[in-house]
Amino acid sequence: MVELRHPPGTFDVLPAASGPWQIVLSTFSRVVAGAGYGLILTPTFEDIGVFQRIGESTDVVRKEMYDFLDKGERHVALRPEQTASVVRAYIEHRPVTPWKAWYAGSQFRFERPQAGRYREFHQLGIEAFGSADADLDVEVVALGWEFYRALGVNRLELLLNSLGDASCRPAYRQLLVAYLKSHRQELCDEHAHRIEENPLRVLDCKRPQCRSVVAGAPRQIDHLCDDCAAHFNRVEEGLRALSIPFTIQPLLVRGLDYYTRTTFEYAGTGLESAQNALGGGGRYDGLVAAMGGPDTPAVGFALGVERILLALEADAVTLPPVAPLDAFVVDFAGGAQARDLTARLRAAGFRVDRGFDGRSPKSQFKAADRSGARLALIIGPDEAAEGTVGIKDLHEGGEQASVSSGEIVDEVARRLG
Ligand code: HAM
Repeated sequence: MVELRHPPGTFDVLPAASGPWQIVLSTFSRVVAGAGYGLILTPTFEDIGVFQRIGESTDVVRKEMYDFLDKGERHVALRPEQTASVVRAYIEHRPVTPWKAWYAGSQFRFERPQAGRYREFHQLGIEAFGSADADLDVEVVALGWEFYRALGVNRLELLLNSLGDASCRPAYRQLLVAYLKSHRQELCDEHAHRIEENPLRVLDCKRPQCRSVVAGAPRQIDHLCDDCAAHFNRVEEGLRALSIPFTIQPLLVRGLDYYTRTTFEYAGTGLESAQNALGGGGRYDGLVAAMGGPDTPAVGFALGVERILLALEADAVTLPPVAPLDAFVVDFAGGAQARDLTARLRAAGFRVDRGFDGRSPKSQFKAADRSGARLALIIGPDEAAEGTVGIKDLHEGGEQASVSSGEIVDEVARRLG
């Protein structure tokens, strides 16, 4: 029979290794819920049209989407990112603004798998709708920063840029196209032929030919209209007021096309450049309208969980363990007493696991140790006959004591303090 394995670019996280995932998620929900963001769940797949609006000329849409016709002949795609899904939900349900949502979930991109780059990966994100206030950009950027700090990611750099808006971007675009055309021969093959289609993509190209042309290219940040410049100044001022250090990166255009004004990325400076984008986001004041909704400014970010874990590893940060078990019931008396004791302890609010199948005491004690439980509660034939339970502290060692079955819940509570 063919050996069944996980698909390339995906992975399993087994319970023993999922502790950090839980901590990352709970830290994130604590930080963003504390600023008024509510959890949103959207479908993993959507009509392909939802995602086409994020940029027909981006790699994410052109090359990386998992799209297919379903059995009802609908053209759908697994979400490559969640901003478009949240915008679709916003337009469909029209909640009162300002509207703030956070999400956590799988995203799918058909990329070449490598360290920190997967085909199914996990993002944590926030999106805020209905305010054009630059202070909201600052709030969003600061929440990501605070979250990384709360986890212990210390080697972190915040890169900041402004991509202008509908009033200043077109003129800048013309300038950029003219400049790139005058250097067409020097650009990489892919971009030499795609200048008009999306000149900003060239700024993002990692190939050395493009990089040297781009070094002399006009920069949007030097061609902002008064409103965009004032907005950007206010964002800078807000970040300074919060003592969040940032570097202005005029070439930061991000890989998706919906951004206006503020764009930003969190770079993990302890990681190699191919995987150091820990997360990013920005304003997308035109996307809601482009997807058929009312004119609604919005701003948000998404952070890659796999990248966060890599950054924590690079910084040798060990996250606190998820709460371990309080007790493990070791049973070699037939199971009935263990079943009832486990139920009583769980009903009293303790975290309890137990042995099954009447396995040997040795294997059950090993399981108890592996579980991390503080106490072993032992029921052998003698205890079952006497109506007692053996109790032993697995962390502190010491002798096994005997407690009557009626007093065991209180004794567990006493020992756990
Ligand atoms: P993005 O930059 O495409 O933005 O993705 C955000 C983060 O997801 C990246 O910085 C990276 O950490 C992680 N990521 C992306 N692709 C992969 C991959 N193949 N494997 C592992 N991690 C990956 C967005 O998705 C936007 N929706 C962000 C946003 C929200 N903008 C406004 N609101």
